Amino acid sequence: MKTKIKLPLVIPDLSGNEKRYLNDCLNSTWISSTGKYLELFEKQFAAFTGTRYALATSNGTTALHLVLAALDVSAGDEVIVPDFTFIATANAVSFVGAKAVLADVDRSSWNINPEEIRKKITHRTCGIIAVHLYGNPAGMGEILEIARERNLWVLEDAAEAHGAEYRINGPKKVGSMGIAGIFSFYGNKIITTGEGGMVTTDDSKLFKKMEILRDHGQKPDRHYFHPKIGFNYRMTNMQAAIGLAQLERINKFLEIRDAISRRYQQQLEGIEGINFVKNHPDKKNVCWLFSMTVDRPYKLSRDRLIELLSKNGIDSRPFFIPINRQPPYFMIGSFEISEYLSGHGINLPTFTTMTFRQIDTVCRIIRKYG
Ligand SMILES: Cc1ncc(COP(=O)(O)O)c(C=O)c1O
Repeated sequence: MKTKIKLPLVIPDLSGNEKRYLNDCLNSTWISSTGKYLELFEKQFAAFTGTRYALATSNGTTALHLVLAALDVSAGDEVIVPDFTFIATANAVSFVGAKAVLADVDRSSWNINPEEIRKKITHRTCGIIAVHLYGNPAGMGEILEIARERNLWVLEDAAEAHGAEYRINGPKKVGSMGIAGIFSFYGNKIITTGEGGMVTTDDSKLFKKMEILRDHGQKPDRHYFHPKIGFNYRMTNMQAAIGLAQLERINKFLEIRDAISRRYQQQLEGIEGINFVKNHPDKKNVCWLFSMTVDRPYKLSRDRLIELLSKNGIDSRPFFIPINRQPPYFMIGSFEISEYLSGHGINLPTFTTMTFRQIDTVCRIIRKYG
């Protein structure tokens, strides 16, 4: 019999103005994809990220697709993406008919390795998607440098890293350094709208193009005239109402998540075989899901640890399966670090209402086999 989960991986914190704003939407009847909450959410998200524009979408995957479509990426183009990421990063490249070229990640940051990017550039390469995985910023300094040298764009996939920063001439929020950034507001993310996404950019031309593509390619000043094949990738005012209430508390959320991460690390420090992502002076990580790798001499494999936690009513997740192992992207190549992380990484419960006592319980179970 399956053990009942007592400690889930994630619980969204909806205890702010979420219900009030949502009820306001219902009372006002502005429940579809226009309304004051959409305007406010976009405006305030742009301010939070430090970009001129933000465009709300139906989810993070459609946000990725929208940017690639607006950049006119198409068949024959190659886009370099990390092998170790969630599948949506690569799928968005396939949606526009281009080829996702996989690059291995870096051992210490778990993010795309700039040296591997250099090896994968061909005359067909048009851009790079830098993913800030599990809240850890990718090495944007070097990535942007390569892009400048080779005349490529950089799209930041910040689906899991709201509020993380990278220092280039002062701290910059993820999503503000490339041609555009994307975010996800799925229920397990740092802030949520249930389902939802956002594109951030400073580029006014790109922004205007995305606005049109998001709305069926319709000309803004002429109803039912569609010069381009577009999509319906709009967010609703109801989702934005929840998003705005979440955004009001994001800094508090990030502080709590930071404290959760510190507590986990403190409790697990010194167990041989358990390792965390390395801190870097140019980066401010945020804690999306607390993440670590498990290897010998720790006495359990990652999968046995997941089983053990589950038997104790604690939910956890293995790290993503590399893109090169996914049937549509099967590829021969060297993805040593990506494979290692995928086989050894685990995400532990992380949510803002989690108590130190709950963290200590998880760590006590893990420590027994250290
Ligand atoms: C790195 C990454 N990119 C893109 C996405 C897609 O976001 P969504 O699930 O909102 O479509 C996710 C979702 O979890 C993700 O983790």
